[in-house]
Amino acid sequence: MDYLEIEGGAELSGTVRIGGAKNAALPVIAATILSDRPVKLENLPDVVDIRTLLKLLERLGAKVEHRGNEALIDCGPLSSTRAVYEIVAQMRASILVLGPLLGRFGECEVSLPGGCAIGQRPIDLHLKALENMGARIEIKGGYVHAIAPEEGLHGATIVFDKISVGATENTLMAAAMAHGTTTIVNAAREPEITQLCEMLVSGGISIEGIGTGRLTVTGNGGNPLHFSKPIRIIPDRIEAGTYLAAGAITYSRITLENIEVEHLQSILDKLESMGCTFEISEGKLTFNPPTGRLREVNIVTAEYPGFPTDMQAQLMAVATMAAGESLIEERLFENRFMHVSELNRLGADIWLKGNVAAVRPVEKLYGADVMATDLRASSALVLAALAAEGTSRIRRIYHLDRGYEDLEGKLAALGATIRRRKSK
Ligand code: EPZ
Repeated sequence: MDYLEIEGGAELSGTVRIGGAKNAALPVIAATILSDRPVKLENLPDVVDIRTLLKLLERLGAKVEHRGNEALIDCGPLSSTRAVYEIVAQMRASILVLGPLLGRFGECEVSLPGGCAIGQRPIDLHLKALENMGARIEIKGGYVHAIAPEEGLHGATIVFDKISVGATENTLMAAAMAHGTTTIVNAAREPEITQLCEMLVSGGISIEGIGTGRLTVTGNGGNPLHFSKPIRIIPDRIEAGTYLAAGAITYSRITLENIEVEHLQSILDKLESMGCTFEISEGKLTFNPPTGRLREVNIVTAEYPGFPTDMQAQLMAVATMAAGESLIEERLFENRFMHVSELNRLGADIWLKGNVAAVRPVEKLYGADVMATDLRASSALVLAALAAEGTSRIRRIYHLDRGYEDLEGKLAALGATIRRRKSK
C-alpha cells in the first residue's frame, strides 16, 4: 500500500493549475447515457472515481475512449441496464446512472450504493422522485429495480424536503426523458448542477430556473439527446479550496490558475476572516497569507452557496494553526469528523461535542504516522503535515487518489517536501 511521506515546514511558492471538478464530471458522464451518439468530454480530472464510472459505462456496453483529461463516450451500443455491485460498491456516485438508464430504457437494475465513512448516505429522495414520475421501484437482493410505465416516465412536481445534489441530478436526467414538464422544488444549486442543466439544454432540453432552487424541465418523451459540441468540465472548487488551505496553513503566497472565483466565494470569505487576502484577475487568484498569526474562524457547513461540507476538514486543519478557538459545525453528514483524531495525533487540540468541533490553539504541530479515512479527511492530513515540524507518513492514500489528480506532484512543484512511498 502506498503512503505519503511529508517533511513539514517548507514555505510554498509558485502557481498551481486547478483541474476539472470530479463532482461535475460524474453527472456529466452519467448523462451521456441519454445520447445514442458519441459525446466528447474535456478537462476531466484524471482521478480514480472518473475511471470507475467510465468502467461502469463500458460494462453496460458503451464505447469509451479515455486519455488523461479527455474522453469520447458513445452510449449508442449500450446493451445492458444492470449496474453491478462490484463497481457501484467502489463508488457510490454510480447511483447517478439510475435516472438516465430508467429515462432512456424504461427499466434498469442498479446496485444499492454502499454507505461510506462519512455517513449512511441513503437514496430515498432519488427513489421518491422517480416514483413521482411514474416509476415502480423495488429493492431486491441489494439492487434497486426500477420500471417506468409502458408509455414512459411522466412529468411531475417533485418537492425535496432536504436538498440533495445526487437526487437533484438523477431527477434532472430522468425528467429530460419524461413526457411533459417536471418542476423540482428545493433543488440543489451547486455549480455542478448548473453544468448538468447546461449540458441538457445543449442537447435540446428546455430548463427554467437554472442556478436557483426551483428547476422546471420540459422532457422530450424519451428521444435520445445529441450533444454536438464537446462538454468542458468546470474547474474544481474543492481542489482550489484545498490549495488555498495549503497556502494558509504554511503561510505561503501562491497563485491558482484555471479557477472560477464565483464558485469559491464562501471559502474566500472564511479565509479572509482568518486574515488572508487575495489578488484576483481573469481566471487566476493569488493567495496572500496573513501578516500576523491566522485568526480563529467559525464555520457551519451548508448547501451551496453556503460553506461546502467538502471543505470542512481542510479548513479545520488550517484552524489548528489559528491564534484563538474555532468552532466548526457539520450540518450535512452525520459522521464527517474522522480527521479529528488523526489531526490530534499531529498535535492539534480538537474537541467534539455532537456535530460541533472546538479547535483550540496550539503552538505547533508535530510530524507523526497517520491514517486517511475518506477523501477530504486525507487532504486535511496532508495540509497539517505540510505545517508540522518533522516527518509525517499518511497511509491509505487510495482515498486521496479518488478525487485529487497528482496532489503530491502539484504540491512538490510548489516547494513541498512530499514523496509517495511503497510500504515494504
Ligand atoms: C455530493 O454527494 C458530493 N458527491 C459529495 O462530495 C458532497 O459532500 C455532497 O454532495 C454534499 O455537497 C458527488 O457529487 C459525487 P447529497 P451526494 O445527496 O449527492 C442526505 C466528495 O468529497 N440524503 O447532497 O451523495 C445525505 O445523507 C463527496 O467529493 C438523504 O437523506 O450528497 C446527506 O446527509 C463526499 N437522502 C445530505 O442529504 C437522499 O436520498 C446531502 O447529501 C440523498 C441524500
